[in-house]
Amino acid sequence: MTPTALSASRTELFRPRFHLTPEATWMNDPNGLIRYDGRWHAFYQNNPHGSLWGNLSWGHAVSDDLATWTHLPVALPCSENEMIFSGSVVHDAANSSGLAAPGEPGPLVAFYTSAYSESHPTRAGIQAQSIAYSTDGGTVWTYYEGNPILDRDSKNFRDPKVFFHPETERWVMVTVEAVDYRVHLFTSSDLLTWEPSSTFAHPEVDGGIWECPDLLRVPVSGPGARPGQEAWVLVLSTNPGGPAGGSGTYLLIGDFDGRRFSSEGSPRPLDLGPDCYAAVSFSGVEGDPVLLGWMNNWAYATQTPTDPWRSAMTLPRTLHLAATVDGSLEVIQHLVVPSEIRTLELGDGAADGSSESTMLDAEEPFRVRGTLSALDPQQLVLRFADGSSQAQTLVLSMDAQGRVVLDRSAAHAAPFAPDHSLSHPYAPRVPSDRVSYDLIVDRSCIDLELDGGRGVVSQQIFPGGSEVTVSLEPAE
Ligand code: FRU
Repeated sequence: MTPTALSASRTELFRPRFHLTPEATWMNDPNGLIRYDGRWHAFYQNNPHGSLWGNLSWGHAVSDDLATWTHLPVALPCSENEMIFSGSVVHDAANSSGLAAPGEPGPLVAFYTSAYSESHPTRAGIQAQSIAYSTDGGTVWTYYEGNPILDRDSKNFRDPKVFFHPETERWVMVTVEAVDYRVHLFTSSDLLTWEPSSTFAHPEVDGGIWECPDLLRVPVSGPGARPGQEAWVLVLSTNPGGPAGGSGTYLLIGDFDGRRFSSEGSPRPLDLGPDCYAAVSFSGVEGDPVLLGWMNNWAYATQTPTDPWRSAMTLPRTLHLAATVDGSLEVIQHLVVPSEIRTLELGDGAADGSSESTMLDAEEPFRVRGTLSALDPQQLVLRFADGSSQAQTLVLSMDAQGRVVLDRSAAHAAPFAPDHSLSHPYAPRVPSDRVSYDLIVDRSCIDLELDGGRGVVSQQIFPGGSEVTVSLEPAE
């Protein structure tokens, strides 16, 4: 299906309300996420001139509640010989960079990858790290005249994520050499000059190029946790090699001493669905990190049937670690769900024998909560229809082994991404355990939290129909 096969009003029907989408252009990775002065800023990879990847610049939107977003002008525009690839923003409160005038409040500093064109006079095809800064709280940005600030003469060195490490009193920058499967870390005292500190590789993350790293300090709680326990988590996107095929995001739990990240564990999927890539955290958040991902997949990102806008962000999610009594760490993520969303409580379908169905307006966002059990396998079915038209279905099912899968293979009005229709199965630690689900449906954007946050699934769907029937049925 080509995007133009659908009318403009049809593609507007796919536009979610609580997920960030670009107004009328292309979007990929979230960039420069920061909570600053009480507002959430999301910059993003944007083609200001079209609905396909190209002319990469940083778009900009702000939110007071992480649910509704207001668009601001393009923050970092590309130029003829330089695209502005992914990166991050920090608040340089102490003006350690000297980029604000003496006595003025510290600036916001953006780190991005300068992706120089093949016809660039001195850096043809090179990717290097550069800076822009804002002294008005993030609306107007100035490119630093000393750019690039970090150049390895590499064609795949990108995606700087910067944070402050108070124990060593240094700024830390996490980057990738994408095709070498390596994370490169650097430290700095002034944000302008950077020293290499270490590199990180992992034999089990080898399915695709590495992109968009993030390094997070994550609180640990739970019965096996020590008071004040924390761990460090490296978040890494790979393309392909994702958990549900195509591109996807993983995390590794480990330790960080201010210079070097180490991990003895295996990578775990951040998201079990096909549509969460380049997920990174907001700067300026205390406690549990808050992450946002690109709700798309490089395997088919240019074919989503919306035009001229294309792509959404996932719902934000918080990240936490829970130590079990045996000391192992579980990854717990909670979706940040808008408070005013309609909620359907299906409860425990197996126990109360309910088989009712409820019809809702498919154009309004809604949430369905309930529990699945392997003892009496049930499936949650969402049927999208328009009176006489054939229905499309989204099915959340649990098999007899207790594994939960979200299946969008029949959820589209026209064939879409058949190779990526199933989420990676979620298996509870004890197979007979009940698994709670919390499903958020915001038109084309589906976010699912399973088992109290132990599994999260992001999927896009493109059904026809203005009505949706929600029912719990015996599993097939
Ligand atoms: C990830 C990515 C980044 C790069 C950006 C370019 O999706 O490939 O590595 O900075 O997109 O748009």
